[in-house]
Amino acid sequence: MTAAPLLSPRMSGITASPASVLRRRARELRAAGRDIIELSSGNLDFPTPDHVIAAAHAAALRGETRYTDVDGTPELKRAVQAALLRDHHLDYGPDEIVITNGSTQALFNALLATLAPDDEVIIPAPYWAPYLDQVRLAGAAPVVVPCAQNNGFKLRAEDLQAAISARTRWIIVNNPVNPSGALYSRDNLSEIATVLLRHPEIRVLADGLYEHIVFNGSPAPTLAEIEPRLKPRTLTVSGLAKSYAMMGWRIGYAAGPAALIRAMITIQSQTTSGASSISQAAAIAALDGAQDVLLARAAILRAKRDRFAELVNECAGLSCTPPEGTFYLLVACAGIIGKRAPDGRVIRTDRDFSAYLLEAADVAVFPGEDLGLSPYIRLSFANPSSTIEEAARRLKRACAALQ
Ligand SMILES: Cc1ncc(COP(=O)(O)O)c(C=O)c1O
Repeated sequence: MTAAPLLSPRMSGITASPASVLRRRARELRAAGRDIIELSSGNLDFPTPDHVIAAAHAAALRGETRYTDVDGTPELKRAVQAALLRDHHLDYGPDEIVITNGSTQALFNALLATLAPDDEVIIPAPYWAPYLDQVRLAGAAPVVVPCAQNNGFKLRAEDLQAAISARTRWIIVNNPVNPSGALYSRDNLSEIATVLLRHPEIRVLADGLYEHIVFNGSPAPTLAEIEPRLKPRTLTVSGLAKSYAMMGWRIGYAAGPAALIRAMITIQSQTTSGASSISQAAAIAALDGAQDVLLARAAILRAKRDRFAELVNECAGLSCTPPEGTFYLLVACAGIIGKRAPDGRVIRTDRDFSAYLLEAADVAVFPGEDLGLSPYIRLSFANPSSTIEEAARRLKRACAALQ
């Protein structure tokens, strides 16, 4: 008798997220004594603000260590409600909000609750890689729509229109975009909304995780805010990870139609039982507290962005434009492809180039192949200035060594 296969057919083609694989590899190399500079990470080098940590500590001492309501504590839901009103003039009731383990879980719960086999989800590229496998895990098919650099890596209305089929259930709109840093203006979103208004059966997953990491002073707009007619079919998703440098606290949230939120809560009740009680107390302090930290940190990141972009553009074969949001440079490396490394190997793809940079220069970067756009690499500038300078020196040397 042959043993039954270990894995479900659901797992075919699903891999560990590229970010987690890179994190593990960098850690292994460091453990082996290598001085790796990690430009591939989604972590910020800012600490979580002190008053947020103090709130978590106080909550733990007060005994807030039990399960909370599956959908989040009423206090955090109220803080999310107030933040959506303050930042986006969006009015959601408590039954239209759910707190999740990072925005990752909000996105997945929504997809799992709504998708059936053969359904399609439109994902503009370049993209945050987990969107694709989340859609596949939910049994549906991602439909990737390339967004060209000459349009600022933004989705064109005509390309969206062409990608829509009778099977389209969702479109995912991330603003600003990881990995390109593109920031959709209100006008850009209006153009997308115009197409979507012609297709009332399509729902909108608006991912605003980097909404406060923008360099023009106001939170990135989101679709439900600029087109109220889309609000009844939009799920507005965000989280605390990037805005408040709370990556490891794992708090995200979603706001949308009550029926969808109820289904997401049902899934959550059967899977994670909800988010950490201590992290939820911390999130209240972050959302309710003084918000000037957001602008101050964005200004620091802006200076790092400008400096790093200048240095990267001095590297032979690389070019980039400073992004309007996020903390990533999306760097074109077409000028590297076809060159030969000192060990004789030819660099044929951005994945080869990333491997070369890791092995020859001790710099970990994210290959565009995993982000839906080649040949590019993504570099984080949420690092200390000295690290950015050293990383640029290594990149310059590594690029100059190619023939
Ligand atoms: C665009 C985007 N959405 C969602 C997430 C998920 O973040 P978290 O689960 O930490 O809230 C990330 C993480 O990097 C991201 O880049």
